[in-house]
Amino acid sequence: MVKEVNRLRKVKVDGEERLATLNLAEGIQVYNERLIKLNGLEYRVWDPFRSKLAAALLKGLKENPIDEGIKLLYLGVSTGTTASHISDIIGEKGILFGVEFAPRVAREFIDRVVKYRRNVIPIIEDARRPDRYFSIFGKVDVVYCDLAQPDQTDIAILNCKRYLKNGGHLLLVVKSRSIDVTKQPKEIFKGEAEKLENEGFRVNQIINLDPFDKDHALIDAIME
Ligand SMILES: C[S@@+](CC[C@H](N)C(=O)[O-])C[C@H]1O[C@@H](n2cnc3c(N)ncnc32)[C@H](O)[C@@H]1O
Repeated sequence: MVKEVNRLRKVKVDGEERLATLNLAEGIQVYNERLIKLNGLEYRVWDPFRSKLAAALLKGLKENPIDEGIKLLYLGVSTGTTASHISDIIGEKGILFGVEFAPRVAREFIDRVVKYRRNVIPIIEDARRPDRYFSIFGKVDVVYCDLAQPDQTDIAILNCKRYLKNGGHLLLVVKSRSIDVTKQPKEIFKGEAEKLENEGFRVNQIINLDPFDKDHALIDAIME
């Protein structure tokens, strides 16, 4: 019988329970995170103060669509901190397309993450122009969006309509201050969720990321 390996799990570090992912690039750190060995396997400790997805998992994301073998489109991949943990979880059979438009940031993403992981493909493009992603093929299971732009919900919808399969999940990070500093964060999160519903998404959950990230939420929505 083949024993299943947990690619995402809780581990004890200095007496504290932490999230960790199975390192797909053994011995390589991405952001100076701790590496720990468990039963001969190497795990990377996942910092919820550095990654909003880790924060959402700790704050109770009920239906985590990120699993081994899935295909994911990541908008605003930056230097790849969160993307590297997603790459660990989806494993060799999965694939992550990472979109980033800032050339210097994208170069760091390539040097730190893409070089060591065959399941990560960089797309140096503006997420407002999904028609220009020439290296993407087929539909994806999940779109993860963290652009910190005022119109990022519209950008996410545009990308989902082109690349997300029906029934696929959109995980949208909302930074209320990028949208409107004068409104209450809760009001903004509700407004962005309504935009998604008006475009045919079913909103599963809105998770406030406080205390890991103030004034941020992650919206999990399904494109029906
Ligand atoms: C908040 S950071 C992302 C952090 C990253 N998701 C993480 O967890 O490690 C937002 C990133 O989106 C990029 N970005 C913003 N607007 C963009 C656009 N229209 N197209 C592509 N990338 C964009 C920025 O250059 C920046 O690197």
